[in-house]
Amino acid sequence: MLKLCRSIERLATTDVPVLILGESGTGKELLAHALHELGPRADKPFVPINCAAIPETLLESELFGHERGAFTGAVRQTIGKIESAQRGTLFLDEIGDVPQSLQVKLLRFLQDQVIERIGGRRQIQVDVRIVCATNQDLSTKMAHGEFREDLFYRLNGITVRVPPLRDRTGDAVMLATYFLNRFAGEFGNQKKVFNSGAISAIAEFDWPGNIRELENRVKRAFHVGRSGHRAGRSRTRRSSQGNINLDIRAARMKAERQVIQLALAQSNGTISTAAKLLGVSRPTLYGLLEEHGIDVASGSARHESPRLENPP
Ligand SMILES: Nc1ncnc2c1ncn2[C@@H]1O[C@H](COP(=O)(O)OP(=O)(O)OP(=O)(O)O)[C@@H](O)[C@H]1O
Ligand SMILES: [Mg+2]
Repeated sequence: MLKLCRSIERLATTDVPVLILGESGTGKELLAHALHELGPRADKPFVPINCAAIPETLLESELFGHERGAFTGAVRQTIGKIESAQRGTLFLDEIGDVPQSLQVKLLRFLQDQVIERIGGRRQIQVDVRIVCATNQDLSTKMAHGEFREDLFYRLNGITVRVPPLRDRTGDAVMLATYFLNRFAGEFGNQKKVFNSGAISAIAEFDWPGNIRELENRVKRAFHVGRSGHRAGRSRTRRSSQGNINLDIRAARMKAERQVIQLALAQSNGTISTAAKLLGVSRPTLYGLLEEHGIDVASGSARHESPRLENPP
């Protein structure tokens, strides 16, 4: 995730089209927004459009806009999303769901950076950065002739893959703690903490709905006033059994790494608290962090997550 954040920072300064791939709820839209916010277009609009949520007949008008009288019901001129993103960023969410007829029109716009409103005769020059996302397999769609290859190559300057939460050891607990603190701030309630049972339930759960599910679970737990300790428990299942590595040193290292990450998450990255939780001295913890290559200074998954304390 840290590597991914660094590449988002780098890509933000460019105009390369970025395709963000990842399961539902992994943070695709958040990263698209970051691409916009961290770049030179930040003071211009970021315009998201969910291509799956808008019926085919309306999507064209949503994207390109229409002139008055262009079709029945077009009582006034309407600016489309592409035009309203002028000099900013257009985020085409669920790009895999754009119907074929519109794919051609989208391609034309991407090639020439020019659009025409429906029913309009004027060509309108637009300067828009394109970021797309999907959780569908576009290669399969292309193989089935459902997604145009030429459009794919236009959109896919750089592909960014967002890993599912279950592959991000330590992140679930860290994010859950972040959400718990955030809700405590937002709802003016007293501070709540997860007990150790909740921490391990959160760490062990697979989170099929990823961060969105985690956030909702923590919110629900927060509101039912159960200190969040039921988040993740009811449907807890272990990750796939796989082949168990019998190398005892590797197993020790893995377990050590996990508890260090959990302690850092639970302590919001405060080294002294984490060391106390782990029952080691601060210097020992620094040694362990180095050994495991855990970068505490930039250890938070993203800039909105709690910042971790810098080593002295
Ligand atoms: N690193 C993160 N830190 C804090 N919150 C996050 C992070 N990543 C994602 N979220 C939150 O998780 C939720 C889901 O994120 P987002 O909408 O970006 O995911 P998505 O991949 O677009 O999901 P979907 O495929 O369902 O549209 C949002 O509320 C977002 O704010
Ligand atoms: Mg999304």
